[in-house]
Amino acid sequence: MRQVFVIEGPTVLQGDVDVRGAKNSVLKLMAAALLAPGRSLITNVPAIADVRIMCELLSRLGCGIDYDADAGTVAIEVPEAPGITADYELVRLMRASISVLGPLVGRMHAAEVAVPGGDAIGSRGLDMHQRGLEQLGADVRLDHGYFVASAPGGLRGADIALPFPSVGATENLVMAAVLADGVTTIENVAKEPEIVDICTMLVSMGADIEGIGTSRVVVTGVERLHPVEHRCVGDRIVAGTWAFAAAATGGDVTVHGVGLDLLPNVVDKLIEAGASVEAIGSEDAAVAGFRVRGPERPRPLRVSTLPFPGFPTDLQPFVIALNAVAGGVGLLTENLFEARWRFVNELSRLGAQVSIDGNHALVTGVGSLSGAEVEASDIRAGAGLVLAGLTASGTTEVSGIDHIERGYEHFVEKLTGLGAAITRVEKPETVIP
Ligand code: EPU
Repeated sequence: MRQVFVIEGPTVLQGDVDVRGAKNSVLKLMAAALLAPGRSLITNVPAIADVRIMCELLSRLGCGIDYDADAGTVAIEVPEAPGITADYELVRLMRASISVLGPLVGRMHAAEVAVPGGDAIGSRGLDMHQRGLEQLGADVRLDHGYFVASAPGGLRGADIALPFPSVGATENLVMAAVLADGVTTIENVAKEPEIVDICTMLVSMGADIEGIGTSRVVVTGVERLHPVEHRCVGDRIVAGTWAFAAAATGGDVTVHGVGLDLLPNVVDKLIEAGASVEAIGSEDAAVAGFRVRGPERPRPLRVSTLPFPGFPTDLQPFVIALNAVAGGVGLLTENLFEARWRFVNELSRLGAQVSIDGNHALVTGVGSLSGAEVEASDIRAGAGLVLAGLTASGTTEVSGIDHIERGYEHFVEKLTGLGAAITRVEKPETVIP
């Protein structure tokens, strides 16, 4: 049997929704825990499949794991000498597994981590991870599908300049450098809030990092780090998903757990689409939030995806879904991943008028989409199809929902709480006799 989401549209989303910690931070915070023996505790952890995969990976490295999905906590008991091998079996399920590479080489001076292949959104190179670790003094070679890294005398500080502000390479190299001998300077680093979150945890573990949140970080290696308790930053992409869902459905949604400071450029685009956006709560990240009220019909958007603080590539499918029902012609330019268009073919099944030219998607808004069966190819594409289904008339059935559940906790329950008619249904697999 396979599971699908069945949506009856159109719907106007209304109400309040809570957002917990960011998938793209928590997985790296869990990897960072490897840098110190003892028990680290991470809070504000979302109940998503990727966290369970990372728990399994760390437990296979010898860590004791206590994950309480309801409470949103994960405790990680790291041994004096964790294992060094991350198997393909887990890495293929979740690319973010690569983030144990830096901490393992930094602390254990050796690692064997399976190389993830390309995926539905692009080829996703790892050359900057490899080259950066080599500059820190590690020998890194590809052996039977694994990065085999070793630095017998430990890593040494180095001057590194990234050709592109890669999120994953920045994280791996900072996590490797915190225990290196000497000073590491990394130029052109990524500045995403998740990077700031990871650096903040590393500093509270005893690391010495300057320039956090800027394009240049200076890491002075220390001999030893200690375990900590750390609260994961809220998920700005999940928050942005709810914001676009409110804007596209003409709804009124209040999001709790993420402040507007994490959504620069996104807020401007929501307003340009005709939505009103209002900050609520206080400066305290735990209670920060915002309210989005959508227009009767959105105005089309022109958006280019860029590294933070630019418009996030992970919100790209929601812009296209909104443009699909907007009053006019919109344009989306994707600058990070070359193959993030599989979603567009599915959206066309709902009646969207999209044409792709290189890295541009030209979208002519139609009065209304019409429900159909569609398939999710990645996390954001899946959530984007659900959003399109909410605006469509009739029944939309989204398969491939395991992708969505990798990154969105209690998705059906949260949508139902906002007034959507969505259910999870079991369907038999197609069998060809
Ligand atoms: N790149 C290289 N070589 C490298 C590293 C990256 O060529 O060594 C290229 C990639 O192929 C890609 C671009 O640089 O075209 C950006 O990659 P980056 O390293 O910045 O992204 P990532 O670390 O692989 C994270 C998020 C993605 C998010 C991107 C961009 C995690 C687990 N994933 O990926 O999130 O889209 O940053 O912000 O943190 C998602 O959550 O659905 C998702 C895909």
